[in-house]
Amino acid sequence: MAARPILILGGTGEARTLVERLVQSGYRDVRLSLSGATRTPALPGAGKVRTGGFGGTQGLADYLTRERVALLIDASHPYAAQITFHAHAAAQQTGLPLLRFNRPPWSKQAGDRWIAAASHQQAAQMLPGYGMRVFLAIGRKEIGAYANCRDRSFLIRSIEQPDPDTAPARHRWISARGPFDAADEAALLRKERIDCLVTKNSGGNATYGKIAAARLLGLPVVMIDRPPAPPDSTTSTTIDDTLAWVRQQSSG
Ligand SMILES: NC(=O)c1ccc[n+]([C@@H]2O[C@H](COP(=O)([O-])OP(=O)(O)OC[C@H]3O[C@@H](n4cnc5c(N)ncnc54)[C@H](OP(=O)(O)O)[C@@H]3O)[C@@H](O)[C@H]2O)c1
Repeated sequence: MAARPILILGGTGEARTLVERLVQSGYRDVRLSLSGATRTPALPGAGKVRTGGFGGTQGLADYLTRERVALLIDASHPYAAQITFHAHAAAQQTGLPLLRFNRPPWSKQAGDRWIAAASHQQAAQMLPGYGMRVFLAIGRKEIGAYANCRDRSFLIRSIEQPDPDTAPARHRWISARGPFDAADEAALLRKERIDCLVTKNSGGNATYGKIAAARLLGLPVVMIDRPPAPPDSTTSTTIDDTLAWVRQQSSG
């Protein structure tokens, strides 16, 4: 089993850690799959990396069969719903064991002013209730949903520049890659005179700083709901449980 590949769908820090831990544990062919959306992605210190889409469910199923993949771990971002559904369908088609690593979402603490939005479109419609200067901490893919908010000013933070044709007219872009510290985030919100934040509920520590900073400053946070996931998935929420699943599958 250890000689056949383990494929990890990535895009998260945990995916990189899983690759490294599996290689350390002696698994010889551990592959991280990245979407290719980021030109200079953070890479694991071990294992192999492949980049780019597979071509839908069938393309992924073909890859799994052709490469004789033994186990599939979906450690993609909690909002990367498409690849998660493709993984689920491809695993069913090929009969391959699949585990979904699902990073737990943040939960609301006393003092948080969270407003739930079902989509970016709904979040954009809500903004008039929450001030003029908006921090869009959502990456760059869904920026277009805010293009019609012409009377608001946006601070956009993403690793790479958003498409200027779809970005809201009044915006300033800053390039940055987490982790982000709460004190630095509070300083940024103050300096930019931010009235409200829009964010995904990504979970984890790396990007929690903005949530703590908004609480400290009493700012509203428009929180985009997580997308639905395949209902009957086998899931884990920790790296250790994921490694235990691999060991269990490998010994079977
Ligand atoms: N994907 C990520 O690594 C990532 C990381 C951080 C945040 N997010 C957030 O998730 C949301 C959706 O992003 P998205 O469009 O990238 O995801 P998505 O909607 O789930 O995926 C779109 C397509 O990208 C390809 N893809 C995605 N992840 C892949 C992976 N790990 N390996 C190989 N191909 C992959 C697949 O193409 P094929 O159908 O051709 O196989 C997939 O159908 C956004 O809000 C984004 O900010 C995503």
